[in-house]
Amino acid sequence: MAHIVIIGSGIAGLFAALRLADANHTVTVVTKQRPTDSSTNWAQGGIAAILDKTDGVGLEAHVNDTLRSGDGLCDENVVRTIITEAAERIQDLLHIGVRFETNEDGAFNLVREGGHSKRRILHAKDATGKEIERALSEGAAQHPNITIKPNTLAIDLIQREHGNPNQGIAGVWCLDQVSQEVLTLSADIVFLATGGVGQLWSTTTNPSVATGDGLAMAYRAGAAVKDMAFIQFHPTALARQDDRPFLITEAVRGEGGVILDKAGLRAWQIATQKARDEGSEEPLPDGFSFTLAHSPLGSMATRDIVARSIDQTMKQTGSTHVFLVTSHLDQAHLLAHFPTIQKRLDRHGLQLGRDPLPVAPAAHYVVGGLAVDDIGRPHSRGSGEIIPSLYAIGEVACTGMHGANRLASNSLLEAVVYAARAADHIIKTNPNSFEHSLPDWRADGLTNLVEHAPAINDRASLRTTMSQEVGIVKRFNRLHRARRRLDLLHEEVDMIWKTALPSREIVELRNMTLVGRLVIEDSLQRKENRGLHFNADLVEE
Ligand code: FAD
Ligand code: SIN
Repeated sequence: MAHIVIIGSGIAGLFAALRLADANHTVTVVTKQRPTDSSTNWAQGGIAAILDKTDGVGLEAHVNDTLRSGDGLCDENVVRTIITEAAERIQDLLHIGVRFETNEDGAFNLVREGGHSKRRILHAKDATGKEIERALSEGAAQHPNITIKPNTLAIDLIQREHGNPNQGIAGVWCLDQVSQEVLTLSADIVFLATGGVGQLWSTTTNPSVATGDGLAMAYRAGAAVKDMAFIQFHPTALARQDDRPFLITEAVRGEGGVILDKAGLRAWQIATQKARDEGSEEPLPDGFSFTLAHSPLGSMATRDIVARSIDQTMKQTGSTHVFLVTSHLDQAHLLAHFPTIQKRLDRHGLQLGRDPLPVAPAAHYVVGGLAVDDIGRPHSRGSGEIIPSLYAIGEVACTGMHGANRLASNSLLEAVVYAARAADHIIKTNPNSFEHSLPDWRADGLTNLVEHAPAINDRASLRTTMSQEVGIVKRFNRLHRARRRLDLLHEEVDMIWKTALPSREIVELRNMTLVGRLVIEDSLQRKENRGLHFNADLVEE
């Protein structure tokens, strides 16, 4: 039986861990903070799935919505197979103990989000991720074959032969953040399930752990990356100076919420008052939305279109936000479906079904990532071959499912499908244990990082640069400026890296700088605008 180290305890990491452990493999899950600190835990809307594998029409519609959202760049075969496997993976999640919302008749309650032509999203009200994470982490904590190591920060992959990705991976160096020691963990197989990169931008829906570590580690170990320019900004994060950009799920729009700018809101309010005075039917807000100028689907268009239209409107009006309007909807229904959001709004005296909510786009999801095959094995950058004994699953990977823009609620689905495929492949092939003696971390001559302020300031400056120069709308000169700044930052981080013992600040900054450069490089290479990548210079040429 193999010993497997999984880095990350979100849906991808924990689902794979449970499957492998059930098949008698021993699994160590290392995770940066508490096991539940993950994007998975914050997921709201749900997981898209057709529950009846024989529902050809339903499957085809989900495939078509995904392809349309991906703007011509999805791998259709990947899309089809993931969507076909969804029903089985949902059964697995139910078996593990995930409780999705049901109607009075016992059927699953399904919701809709932007880009979906019908209701097909399973959810646990507006805390779907929390419910999934609860069930998975409880299962993992109780499993005799799983050891979870919290507060353990993976620093770098250890190659079987230094400098040669084609020989595979033999383990991982990790910083024990309690003892501050660097651990050398050996493994027959390593899984990267480290999630996304949202922390590279100042405004993000992502938790603090999302610093692109897995991507950076694998890149340094010779893995190929793909489609890094496609960064998804969620259109509706709460925009308050005194709070983080808390996500307001698209499912609110699925229930009829509409995005208006200040002028649209005013016009709708005047029209509503007029209708009341005249005793005529009150108008819906839909027709007053600036989003209609960008798509006939208005507020329910795909995320790339809605986020870009908001960005443009905010720039034109000089405003820091637009509004998500729900006062025309049944308040009791909204409060019953979105209790987590309402709890957050309570802090600000705002109410669903009553107040226009100030919202703005925030960095949300990296569509690109490690280029993997159909069971999650990363390719080597040099040879194109598979890197042996390494898997990348979940948001860290780029499978081809999302093309140029991910359809809402397809991410949890992709993560769980690839976690199962990777685990099943290992179970089927039952690889032998690999005898290895691993090099220790190169600690000689390194000193503690005494001055932390530069690392903290550099992180802030990186995030500002990414937000200002590598945002929803890009330009070549801005991308070049961002590249110059990140190149300089890279040199500085490298200097600290060579002399100081690793700390979380410096490990993350090193990774964020590398990932930022990968996003910029891919953006500079692109000669056309697709999905989430929009370079204003390409329009005007
Ligand atoms: P994560 O769940 O992010 O887990 C990554 C794990 O890796 C964490 O445990 C982290 O601590 C650990 N880690 C990272 N680096 C290191 C390191 N160096 N060492 C050790 N551990 C490390 N998608 C949907 O499909 N539906 C939704 O409704 C939805 N809502 C969302 C709402 C929010 C607010 C956010 C942020 C995302 C949402 N998404 C949604 C996207 C989706 O949640 C993520 O893409 C998905 O959860 C990623 O799962 P994952 O297992 O790959 O990574
Ligand atoms: C949301 O609930 O709006 C987020 C869904 C997603 O990112 O897929």
